[in-house]
Amino acid sequence: MRKPIRKAAVIGSGVMGSAIAAHLANVGISCLLLDIVPRQLTETEIEKGYTAEHPAVRNRLATAAIANLRKTSPAPLYDDDFASRIKPGNLEDHLELIGEADWVIEAVVENLDVKRELLGRVERHWKPGTIVSSNTSGISINRMAEGRSEAFRRCFLGTHFFNPPRYMPLLELIPGTSTDPELVKTFRVFCERVLGKTVVIAKDTPNFIANRIGTYGLLVTLREMTERGLTVEEADAVTGPAMGRPKSATFRTLDLVGLDTFLFVADNVHANVTDAEERAIFKAPDALKAMVAQGRLGEKSGQGFYWKRKGAGGSEIWSLDLKTMEYRPSRKVSSGSLEAAKLAKGARARLNALLSGGDRYAEFAWNVLKRVLVYSAEKIGEIADDIRAVDEAMKGGFNWELGPFETWDAIGLVRSAKKMEEEGLRVPAWVKDWIAQGNESFYKKENGTLYFASSSGYARDERPPERISLRDLKEQNRVVKSNAGASLIDLGDGVACLEFHSPNNAIGEDILSMISQSVEEVNRNFRGLVIANEGRNFCVGANLMLLLMEAQDEEWEEIDDIIRLFQNTMLKLKRCEKPVVAAPHRMTLGGGVEVCLPADQVIATAETYYGLVETGVGLIPAGGGCKELALRASRQAALAEADLQPYLNRYFELIGMAKVSTSGHDARKLGYLKPTDRVVVNPGYAIHEAKQAVLRLADGGYEPIAEERIRVAGAEGKAVLQLAAIGMRESGWISDHDLLIAKKLAHVLAGGDAPAGALVTEQYMLDLEREAFLSLCGEPKTRQRMQHMLAKGKPLRN
Ligand code: NAI
Repeated sequence: MRKPIRKAAVIGSGVMGSAIAAHLANVGISCLLLDIVPRQLTETEIEKGYTAEHPAVRNRLATAAIANLRKTSPAPLYDDDFASRIKPGNLEDHLELIGEADWVIEAVVENLDVKRELLGRVERHWKPGTIVSSNTSGISINRMAEGRSEAFRRCFLGTHFFNPPRYMPLLELIPGTSTDPELVKTFRVFCERVLGKTVVIAKDTPNFIANRIGTYGLLVTLREMTERGLTVEEADAVTGPAMGRPKSATFRTLDLVGLDTFLFVADNVHANVTDAEERAIFKAPDALKAMVAQGRLGEKSGQGFYWKRKGAGGSEIWSLDLKTMEYRPSRKVSSGSLEAAKLAKGARARLNALLSGGDRYAEFAWNVLKRVLVYSAEKIGEIADDIRAVDEAMKGGFNWELGPFETWDAIGLVRSAKKMEEEGLRVPAWVKDWIAQGNESFYKKENGTLYFASSSGYARDERPPERISLRDLKEQNRVVKSNAGASLIDLGDGVACLEFHSPNNAIGEDILSMISQSVEEVNRNFRGLVIANEGRNFCVGANLMLLLMEAQDEEWEEIDDIIRLFQNTMLKLKRCEKPVVAAPHRMTLGGGVEVCLPADQVIATAETYYGLVETGVGLIPAGGGCKELALRASRQAALAEADLQPYLNRYFELIGMAKVSTSGHDARKLGYLKPTDRVVVNPGYAIHEAKQAVLRLADGGYEPIAEERIRVAGAEGKAVLQLAAIGMRESGWISDHDLLIAKKLAHVLAGGDAPAGALVTEQYMLDLEREAFLSLCGEPKTRQRMQHMLAKGKPLRN
């Protein structure tokens, strides 16, 4: 048994080192962050009278890096306070402290000699058994470990995080020839479960998996577009979402990565591979070199393939004309194939629509794609053992929607391989053999189990049982009930899962109906209920379009009915006789939060952006959201035997300002999550964790939540809340309409016209919510807000 990893040391506090330390802090691992001792004092240090021996000077790099974490966007920390888990130090005074760490990560400059020398120094203080890893993006792990003892090399491997480490799922583990296979096995589980990463095992070859294939793809795109005379915007329009790649496509990605870094990565392959054809591809084009020489490095230098400049009407985007190497205003790109792709649903359909479009963009896409697919196939065995690792690496490291082999299946393996050969491309022998054996795809699904092509036929994808997939369960006929918006799925062990699957997972009548049916079904036949789904977001709220239409038609009774239905359904969920656990992920807004509030426990994923945002569309929560938070305030005050008002103020601010958490941990800090709620880092395990939580509650002799009375603050409390809002209006923070909404919110949260300290029923509070909601629907400015949100996806502050 290996010691659990509780303490780490990160060496190098640059972009990656500091962000890796932050992610370790995110998951509760305390971390020492070391960097070199600066050679010169800064002016401020001189003013303060410091000498070169002063610890503030000697630790300056790491100290500054930790302070910078709070200012970095997107935030590397789940919660700014977690920065206190990182302690700064320097490589001269504190290297011996790595002896206390369970894991040492090297993240210094990408230079073999520097890394090798540093590992020598690390070994002097290293305790046998401690894992040591390098975050190199492409240098050989074996060469780096040359000169180290066998015992050290057994514990040494590559851990290649992608930038930014909190958000990019991929972690490539690169064992060296001496790395202990048992260590790799247990460490992999740790990286998946504790760090929440998608782990792939890569071979010790230049740039490992994702950067090797990704760089190849970018270089091929650059070449192909130059030959065809395509512009930067044209190439990006084709190589973005239309091809199942992120919006940043080719050139925005290069600008983000930095052209110098990209050149460095490409050169690393060029210098370290022997195949002449491959070397030729990785030889960076002169235009790229010239750009780096001129300091056009991309975002960090302000100019790259794109230039965001100030124009007469605000900021404008200009693009580089590769013929003249001058910038000019970006042009809109459109064509039949691109439009067809836009209309298609899902990455597979989009790609097929693009490729069959018959225009020059379709041709360009095909010419890039076929090379990337063939190259990926050629590299199997060399950079990774199996196609699964390559697909996962490209999805987790480059945000591709489909990996190369999934893409190949999507366009029809047999047909497209034939076409490639006809066009003079050499399809690797193993692919031809695979097809000759009668196989029509690299992957196949049977009874919810995934199989993928391997040298010995279709291999079963070994997924740990804790990674529950609702999609697979559905294929295994485990659906208990279903309608257009939601399904109830049997998770086994007596637990059912309610899955939303409406567009954007917005709550409409079908979801409400399925919630109601689920409660009845679970009461009869299950031990408890999980509410979770595998959509992009858990739930973005109620169906706003429907509401706006009713409001525009002044169908007040209809709206009243809808709200009643929502409220009654949430009450029914709350009164479920069996335990209910909600597992929200990513965007969980408005009605999405209201579905979680009645649950006995919430198991949120770390990336959960959770908030009652109704005021943003001119409304207040009316599906029990206000009632539940008023109840929470009442309970908390009673428990603390304290005044109710401060608790109420907190929730008034939360709803009034439409605060959305920046992480699961932040949702707890803001007060949305209860102390008994939990956060899991890897979303792939959230449903399992929620199921276990249901079983624990059921085993503990579950008692359904009984009707509770809510103590309200009454007129005085309302006045305090409203006064705060008036103050904000007077200082120009909020608009008149914001003030109107805030007053109504204050009215509801304080219990309407009930006397101070009165105990009211949940239904009484729900009636207040509904009344306020309805009156806001009648406000023209609220309707403008709804319209704006539907059209632009952003709140309007009118
Ligand atoms: P960086 O330039 O931001 O940071 C490098 C750090 O190394 C600095 O803190 C610097 O003080 C320290 N350093 C410089 N010379 C040193 C020496 N002689 N001894 C000890 N420390 C020294 O670089 P970044 O981007 O953080 O890269 C660090 C490592 O992570 C590199 O190996 C890089 O290839 C790899 N990497 C970078 C990614 C990125 O997107 N930036 C992504 C994945 C891996």
